[in-house]
Amino acid sequence: MRAIFRNSPLPRYYQLKEVMREKIRSGEWKPGDLIPSERELGEQYGISRMTARQAITELVNEGLFYREQGKGTFVSRHKITQQLIRLTGFTEDIQARGQRPSTKTLSAQMVLADEATAERLHVKQGRQLFRLHRLRLADDEPLAIETSLICFIGCEKLLEDDLEQNSLYQLLETKYGLPPIEAEQELEAGLASNDEAQVLRIPVGSPVLFTRRTTYTERNQPIEYAKSVYCGSKYTFYTRMNREQ
Ligand code: GLP
Repeated sequence: MRAIFRNSPLPRYYQLKEVMREKIRSGEWKPGDLIPSERELGEQYGISRMTARQAITELVNEGLFYREQGKGTFVSRHKITQQLIRLTGFTEDIQARGQRPSTKTLSAQMVLADEATAERLHVKQGRQLFRLHRLRLADDEPLAIETSLICFIGCEKLLEDDLEQNSLYQLLETKYGLPPIEAEQELEAGLASNDEAQVLRIPVGSPVLFTRRTTYTERNQPIEYAKSVYCGSKYTFYTRMNREQ
């Protein structure tokens, strides 16, 4: 066991961070493992709980650990790589990694299209849209907040579907015959607001990635305009480029 040296010029919390990083690197602590409590770490390494807390908090902020209220602190999964080549939905992405996707509906309501949304969805301003605000999780770890504005022509019954148990893309494709075929997506860096931080269980001001996606079904018909907030520490976006036109 790597020790913490009292006479080292490196602060003790910093040394503990390095010790814990090494445990993750070596595989001794695996993704999803519960890490020892502040008290246990304190006793094990002869440091105060405060010092242990500082080290844990910094690794939470860096995305290596995540906290679950009332349960403790866990080792995070490796970052999720979302490829930007094939159009996929959240459920598919998470299942492909062998994780369990889940969804919490934060709100679901009818709204009127504002100018910007109307433009994206090729509808008139003031038209009724279905607004779905969802928290998306993988193995119970919050990863993203997604706000989808759905143009529900041909899928009016969507409001009655159980959108916590079902994938939106799957419902559109299999139940309503409106397969998501193509999408345009913008990515932007940002910092988590108070509300976003609370829902994603990350510190206020943590790095996040905002995406805006317009999804089209057949005949180039826009069906969804979604704004998402992804935890920056948990995602990598990947694309492959070539020079040919
Ligand atoms: C991605 C997109 C969203 C889309 C979602 C569908 O996360 N950013 O725009 O709504 O996938 O996911 P699912 O089919 O799991 O509901």
